[in-house]
Order: sequence, then structure tokens, then C-alpha cells
Amino acid sequence: MDWGMKNRLSRLIQADGKALFLPIDHGYFQGPTHKLEKPGETIKPLLQYADAIMLTRGVLRNCVDSAMNKPVILRVSGGTSVVGEDLANEAITTSVEEIIRLNASAVSMSVFVGSKYEHQSLTNLATLVDACEDYGIPVMAVTAVGRELEKRTARYLALCCRIAAELGARVVKTYYCEEDFEKVVDGCPVPVVIAGGPKVDSQLEVFEFVYDGMQKGAIGVNLGRNIWQTEHPVAAIRAIRTIIHDNYTPEEAQSLFEQVKAGKA
Ligand code: 5RP
Repeated sequence: MDWGMKNRLSRLIQADGKALFLPIDHGYFQGPTHKLEKPGETIKPLLQYADAIMLTRGVLRNCVDSAMNKPVILRVSGGTSVVGEDLANEAITTSVEEIIRLNASAVSMSVFVGSKYEHQSLTNLATLVDACEDYGIPVMAVTAVGRELEKRTARYLALCCRIAAELGARVVKTYYCEEDFEKVVDGCPVPVVIAGGPKVDSQLEVFEFVYDGMQKGAIGVNLGRNIWQTEHPVAAIRAIRTIIHDNYTPEEAQSLFEQVKAGKA
């Protein structure tokens, strides 16, 4: 592997082999998402606990201080919206020159396996990988399901992750599933990070799925709404960080969460 590629990956995946990515890219198809209306404000107290942030060029340029020192994973696919016909009909939205200009450490894009636009999104991935590999920039593929959240079974996710890796993604982001998640990770030859999905009811539930996913081989998370849409985002991210980097159990993480919430840690 080339030095530049290795260096960028090492900025994202920490020395312990783990990673906590904080995505705030939701506006690219959802508009001003709840609690992300002012992304710069949302991330201010959270950035120090994240290993990288994932966002579009528009939010990066307009809402994030250029002196910040966290690596950037630039979302470079889009062209659809929640009120449009089909979320899967995405294109690549950012040139390699722009990716380099913005000093991205990686880029990310969605693939929609099994959708009407499967071929388009997968060939977009291959084209993006070709363009980015020339400059040592890793591509993280996002296995997207659009509105069909019920698709998130191990069989389907394993298929998506493997295809994304075969097409050259250096990291794959996928959903957690309770049953057989280890098969998803085991069938994927590149590191897997867990996406959060819609906000769940209790904080402990998040700690449990992150912990279980890590036990089954994920290297970390790319978790947004279950951090910044919660009542106590700083307590949430700090607790999740301990599961990822300090091997905390869900109960230990919950205990830290309560302490931070109470201003005691
Ligand atoms: C949107 C994305 C988000 O980055 C991803 O869904 C992670 O965020 P969340 O934890 O809120 O689901 O890729 O397409």
C-alpha cells in the first residue's frame, strides 16, 4: 500500500485498530435534519471525542472551522431527496480535484444493492475507487437501504459489504443486525464500521448494539442520530467511545453516561 493511502487510513483508524466516526451528512438528502439544523453548533462539543467527521463539502466549507484538526470523510454521492422518486438514484457529486482541495482523508458514497439503481451505484463506486486510488485516498462504501429498513438482515448486509469490498472500498459502513452479524464482518475482507440508523428508544440499547457489533468483529462505528439527536450527546459519545477504545461493557458505558449526565465525570 502506498504511503499516502496508509497515512490517511491511519488518521481514520486509530493505533488500536478502532474508530469512532461522527456523520453529519444527513442534510444531503434530508435537508435540515432535527438537531442538525446548524451542523457547526451540533458538532462543537462532540468533535474532541470523534476520530473523524463525515460530511458534505457544503457543510464542511460553510459550517466547520478550517483550523480544526479532525480528519474529514467527505460524502461525495447524492443527487436525490426524501421527497424525490427514488433515493437509490445517486450520482457522484464531487470531483477528485475538489476532494484533494478540501484535504479529505477519505471519501464516502452509498451503494444500493438490490435496488433499481444497483448497477449505477456499484459502477459509481468502482469509478470513484479508480479516481481516488490514483491519489491515495480511501473510499468508504455505505451500504444504504433507503427507506427499506427491513432489508437489514445478515444475508443482505453480507452481500452488500462483500460486493463493496470487491469493487475496491477500503472500509465499509453497514448496519448492525442482531442475528449473525459476525457473518457480515467475516465475509468482508476490509474493515467494517457500524452505522447507527434512526434513533432508538434507550441509550443502553445503543451501547448494547455497538458492543455486540465490536465483539463480532466491527472496528468501530459511524454513528450520527443516536449521538446528536439524543438528550445528552456529549455523555452519549463519551460512553460510546469507551466501548470502542477502552473495551467497556454496555453496563460500564451506561454508568459513565450517567456520571457525565450528572456532571460528575
Ligand atoms: C446517511 C449516512 C449517515 O452517515 C449514516 O446513516 C449514519 O448516520 P446515522 O447513525 O444517523 O444513521 O450515510 O446516508
